[in-house]
Amino acid sequence: MSLSKFYQGKVVLITGASMGIGKELAKQVLAHGGKVAITARNESRLNAVIEEFNTYTENILVHAGDATDYSSNQKLVEKIIARFGKLDILINNAGMSCYGEVETLQPSVAEQVININIYGSLYPAMSAIPELKKSKGSILFVSSIAGFHGIPGYSTYSLSKMALTGLSQSMRTELKSSNIYVGISYVGFTENEEDKKTLSPNGQLEKVPPRPKRLTATRETTARLLLHQIMHRKHSASHSFLGSFTNVLSRYAPALLSYFLSRNYHKQQSAR
Ligand SMILES: NC(=O)c1ccc[n+]([C@@H]2O[C@H](COP(=O)([O-])OP(=O)(O)OC[C@H]3O[C@@H](n4cnc5c(N)ncnc54)[C@H](OP(=O)(O)O)[C@@H]3O)[C@@H](O)[C@H]2O)c1
Repeated sequence: MSLSKFYQGKVVLITGASMGIGKELAKQVLAHGGKVAITARNESRLNAVIEEFNTYTENILVHAGDATDYSSNQKLVEKIIARFGKLDILINNAGMSCYGEVETLQPSVAEQVININIYGSLYPAMSAIPELKKSKGSILFVSSIAGFHGIPGYSTYSLSKMALTGLSQSMRTELKSSNIYVGISYVGFTENEEDKKTLSPNGQLEKVPPRPKRLTATRETTARLLLHQIMHRKHSASHSFLGSFTNVLSRYAPALLSYFLSRNYHKQQSAR
């Protein structure tokens, strides 16, 4: 089946869709004939997305809100039903990273990252389930390679993305009899927007440093793979060679993976 055939007329809620991968997901769903509800905190960035996608205005619902706020998610689902009459797919994409060794992290930084990456996926899912039961719909969690194995210097990001594995596994079984698909995607390095930010150990929002091009997928590719995963109802997927390699090593040779990560980390530390 083609993506257009599958997404035609589908109503897709995408969290964190004012920029980056989420915005690209919205663009592709609209181009395939679907309808999107997009959400993020910054209202002016969301409005800029509506401007940019102005040929599809009728098929876009915008909700400025925090994905970690349970009642905001409930209101959003009510708005979706009032406007589009159903909800077919939830993509839990909103997320944030921070860097820094555990010893140096401000507690508020750890809290922010854990909140958005865990509660920011759990609460939209809790709010969407009753409607997804009616549509026999889908939930996709957007994780990362850092969800396979703890990455030194990114512990809080790793722990929060790993938590999504447990959440998706539990929910898959719980929702099986309702015929709701629950998947998780371990996304690899993806081209970042110019103004993408990460949190420093003391809570400053900083620009994310550029990554090696050869290891980085375009946002178009990442979004397309996510949409394919939902269409094929694949439980889990990792997008890149690095992701698949990390997954295999973390299962079958965790000591070797720890060795590689540790060697790389110490190399980076001594280059500073
Ligand atoms: N880019 C990569 O290389 C990569 C690799 C692996 C996994 N991922 C994962 O892919 C997802 C998207 O990443 P990205 O690179 O596209 O990120 P991004 O460009 O930083 O976009 C993040 C989006 O999430 C929204 N957001 C952040 N906190 C939120 C909150 N509390 N409530 C609602 N929305 C919130 C942001 O808008 P506001 O700030 O306005 O709320 C923004 O729309 C994340 O889960 C990330 O961990 C990315």
